[in-house]
Parts: sequence; C-alpha cells; structure tokens
Amino acid sequence: MQKKKIIILGSTGSIGSQALEVIEQNLDLFDVVALVAGTRWEALAKQAIAIRPKMVAIFDAQFVGLLESALSGTGIAVLSGEGGVCEAARQPSDIVLAAMVGMSGLKPTLASLEGTRSLAIANKESVVVGGRWLLDAAHKMNVQVLPVDSEHNGLFQLLQSDQKNNIHKLILTASGGPFRGFNKEQLKHVTVEQALKHPNWSMGPKNTIDSATLFNKGLEVIEACRLFDFPSNKVEAWVHPQSFVHAVLEFKDGTQMFQISRPSMKLPIAHALSWPERYSSDVTPLNFDELSRMVFEPIDDENFPAVRMARACLKSGMGACIVYNVANECAVNAFLDRRISFLKVMTIVQEVLDKMMIPALGTIDEAMDFAEEVKVFAANAASKMF
Ligand SMILES: NC(=O)c1ccc[n+]([C@@H]2O[C@H](COP(=O)([O-])OP(=O)(O)OC[C@H]3O[C@@H](n4cnc5c(N)ncnc54)[C@H](OP(=O)(O)O)[C@@H]3O)[C@@H](O)[C@H]2O)c1
Repeated sequence: MQKKKIIILGSTGSIGSQALEVIEQNLDLFDVVALVAGTRWEALAKQAIAIRPKMVAIFDAQFVGLLESALSGTGIAVLSGEGGVCEAARQPSDIVLAAMVGMSGLKPTLASLEGTRSLAIANKESVVVGGRWLLDAAHKMNVQVLPVDSEHNGLFQLLQSDQKNNIHKLILTASGGPFRGFNKEQLKHVTVEQALKHPNWSMGPKNTIDSATLFNKGLEVIEACRLFDFPSNKVEAWVHPQSFVHAVLEFKDGTQMFQISRPSMKLPIAHALSWPERYSSDVTPLNFDELSRMVFEPIDDENFPAVRMARACLKSGMGACIVYNVANECAVNAFLDRRISFLKVMTIVQEVLDKMMIPALGTIDEAMDFAEEVKVFAANAASKMF
C-alpha cells in the first residue's frame, strides 16, 4: 500500500500528539511531510527528530533560531510566522490534520486545501468562523472533509449508512463537564484549576474550559449544522456524563442509531486518518456492564446558556456565529489569565452579541476581517470586567 503523505497543523497539542501516536503505531502507512506548532519549539523539535518530516513551521518567529539549532544537521527545513505555517500547510499531501486551536487555524486550513486531498478537521473554531465558505472551498477543490471531533466523527460514521433525506434528527452528547449540576451561586466561586479538570477527556486548556462552560457544545452544534448542512432545529444536544455515546441519528421511520466507543480521541483521529479503511487499535470496546450505567439528561440552559446562545446565533446568521466564537476565545483567555471569573465568560459573549453591529458577510475575507474587529471589541469588554 502506498504511504499517505500527512501534514499535522498543531502537532504539539493534545490532538496533534495523539495523532502522532497513531502514526507511530502505523509507521509503514504514513510519510509525514510537515509538522506545525505555535510556540513550543522544544516539543516540536523533539517530534521532528523522532518522526523526520520534510519540514516544520513555528508560528512564533522569535523561536525560529532555537528550532533551527535544535534541528541542524537533520535536513529538516524550518519555516516560521503565519506565512511559514501556511507554506507548510499547502505542501502536496494526501491528508492534513487541522488540529490548531482557535480561529488562528482558519488561514492555514484554507491554505492546506491547495495541496491536499483530504482534510481531517478537529479545529472546530475554523469551521464556525469559516463556515460554509471553508466547506464550499473544500468541495470546489475536491478535498474530502473528515470530521475529527468525536461527536461529528460519530455522526459522519452513522451518516454513511443512509440517505440524508431519511434523517429526522442529529443528536450530539456532552459530558456536562466538571461543573455538571452546579447552580449560579456555586459557579460564582469555581477556579481555573477546577475548570481545567475534565472528568472524562484530556484536552488542551481552551477546549477544556469550553467543556466546562458548555461553549464547546454550542460551537459543536454550529459545527454540525455547517459540516452536515442540517438546520439547527434538527440538531440536538444532550448531557451524557459517561461520554460513551458520542452521536445519535434519528431516522424518519423511528429508528435510532447510536455511535458508541470508549472516550478516547485516538479513535476518531485514527478513523479520520485511516478512512475509508480502519486500523487496529489498542482501545478496548466497552463491555455491557459499563454500557448499563449510561445516563442521559437535558442540558441545564439556565445555568449553562451556551448552547441556547449558539442556537440564537445560528438563527441570526454567520456574523453572530463569528461573534460567538471570537468573543468566547477572548473571554476564555481572560479567564485562563485570571482576569475574569468563570461566569463572566458567558456575560462577555452575551454582551458582545448584544452590543456589536453585525454586518452581512459575503466572503470569507469579510468574515476574517470582521473576526478581527470582534477580537478588539471583546478584548475591550473583557478588560472592563472583573
Ligand atoms: N483535545 C481534544 O480532545 C479535542 C477534541 C475535539 C476537538 N478538539 C479541537 O481540536 C483543536 C485542538 O485542540 P487541542 O486540545 O489539541 O489544543 P491544544 O492542546 O491547545 O493544541 C493546540 C495546537 O495548536 C498549536 N497552535 C496554536 N496556535 C497556533 C498558531 N497560531 N500557529 C500554529 N500553531 C498553533 C499549538 O502549538 P503550541 O504547542 O506551540 O502552543 C498546539 O500544537 C481545537 O480546535 C479543539 O476544539 C480537541
């Protein structure tokens, strides 16, 4: 079998490093073309020495000298800055794993469409901000989009089984995060350390905070509507604390199909990288004792309004979805820097949604320019709140 040429955007992160583990278990199947990271040059150098890509790119140009020294004599090309990251992304490849965090992943993801045949997308913020333009561009350039987010990967697997017009509803699950069951009074006092302790998943800090606020699920509802082209009233989200069921399809004849697997991101990553085949893996199937403990409950919209807010944004249009994503990114940074409290994350997003003039957007360039405006507005809103 011919080796798949692969590029990993965000190789030093949680998704990126798990993808490298999958690749290391299947070294005869992959040829790593490029690895890309933001600032962690030592981790990137270590990965590059182990896996020998043709090139690496680091976004933060101040580390390029250190990275070059660490890789001297290896023959691995070193690029830097946004230009370097996009250059690495657009190298000829069979598959690109988009695993950068936040909307900074959008430009490199778009660049990657020029050189690849498949886009394995974990970076949900790019799907929310780039929306239909990103997906239309992929479609026009004949690039197969493969969702990596566990719920969307689950839906993708389920959707292979039937015609879209037979489907009545898509359902995503949410673990509920570390503060499931908390009321406003309790949420007032939660700390960054508590918010970073997810009960089921080990993820990067931004995604972990988003899981605690449930903005992660709001972003995923928008992502599902975009990826599968379903209206928001056909996409539901339910809390399922065990994270065994990731996605459910409901058909018009009353049949329901559940996608179930142990909560390990290695499975959806390997599924996207191996598609349309499947690799063997060391993740064990769930047994029926475990399955018998499954619980489902509705989202508590009162204390965790993020999914309700996402639905309102979907109704309002692309501009509001961009505000939702960007204001949340700014608010999460402020919370992680201990400049605002947990509940203020929700307040800031709502405030920016209420106060910003949201223009009609016709192109992806307009969307990206607008996202920059939102960043400034939201950073200002965050600086005024304690
Ligand atoms: N983790 C999960 O289980 C999970 C599950 C589903 C979906 N996702 C999605 O997958 C994406 C990645 O999540 P994660 O948890 O893996 O995040 P993470 O651990 O924070 O990793 C982010 C990666 O992006 C790189 N990066 C950040 N800014 C960059 C920039 N401007 N240019 C180039 N590289 C940059 C980081 O480099 P440095 O290491 O140098 O900072 C790191 O490699 C997110 O969109 C998240 O929502 C994650």
